[in-house]
Amino acid sequence: MTTTVPEYDNWSAYWWQPRGPFSVLRWIARARGEQVAPATRPDAVLLDVACGGGMLHPYIAGKGYRHVGVDVSTKSAEIARRHGVDEVVIGDIRDIPLPDAFADVVVAGCCVEHVDEPERVVAECCRLLKPGGTLIIDTIARTWPARFAVITLGENTPVSWAAPKGTHDHRMFVDPRRLARACAANGVPVETYGLFPRTRDLLAWTLGRHGDVPMRKVGYTGIIYGVTGVKPPAEG
Ligand SMILES: C[S@@+](CC[C@H](N)C(=O)[O-])C[C@H]1O[C@@H](n2cnc3c(N)ncnc32)[C@H](O)[C@@H]1O
Repeated sequence: MTTTVPEYDNWSAYWWQPRGPFSVLRWIARARGEQVAPATRPDAVLLDVACGGGMLHPYIAGKGYRHVGVDVSTKSAEIARRHGVDEVVIGDIRDIPLPDAFADVVVAGCCVEHVDEPERVVAECCRLLKPGGTLIIDTIARTWPARFAVITLGENTPVSWAAPKGTHDHRMFVDPRRLARACAANGVPVETYGLFPRTRDLLAWTLGRHGDVPMRKVGYTGIIYGVTGVKPPAEG
């Protein structure tokens, strides 16, 4: 199995740079973390599919979950552990070596656009979710505005926070309806929303006046978007 981004081991130093190439990922991780409700039982588990350097951790810390990650990049996994992720399993997100109904919450942030079979990742997320648990996935839409924003601008603007060239392949971006269909086909109906920054926050960040740019939930799903849903509780 191959992934389009074996380079994450080489890029691992970028994860926690405050104004580095993975800054936008941090903004999205914050929005993802805001969707996670506090745990409702002791020993609750949040599974972070493609956890990278663990940038979600500060946004779910204190909500009562054991934070378990899975990622193919061993160097990123080491960084994630150092930044508070309780355990990281090294593995492929299309075939995750964990048992069914492992987690109360499954998040898969900015990763389905890096695999050739996003449906397999979705199937794994749904399999690993307990009945009654929450699924949260975010990614990049397969549109021209997304290609322009994420690749043309996002990888080529001469700023410290431009993503490394070649991070993305627009042909692997995922249509929101395709993602929602895959979730429903695996037993988790979802709602879809866009994630977008306010212009004034982006401007303030560009001028160095903000630590983060809040990504607001919006109706427009043509660039960055997410889906969330609850796996129906088991009957009987
Ligand atoms: C854009 S990063 C997102 C990381 C994290 N979810 C975040 O938002 O900060 C993509 C991550 O997916 C991982 N990845 C890509 N393909 C993978 C695969 N097939 N199996 C496991 N991890 C993979 C990379 O190593 C990288 O850490």
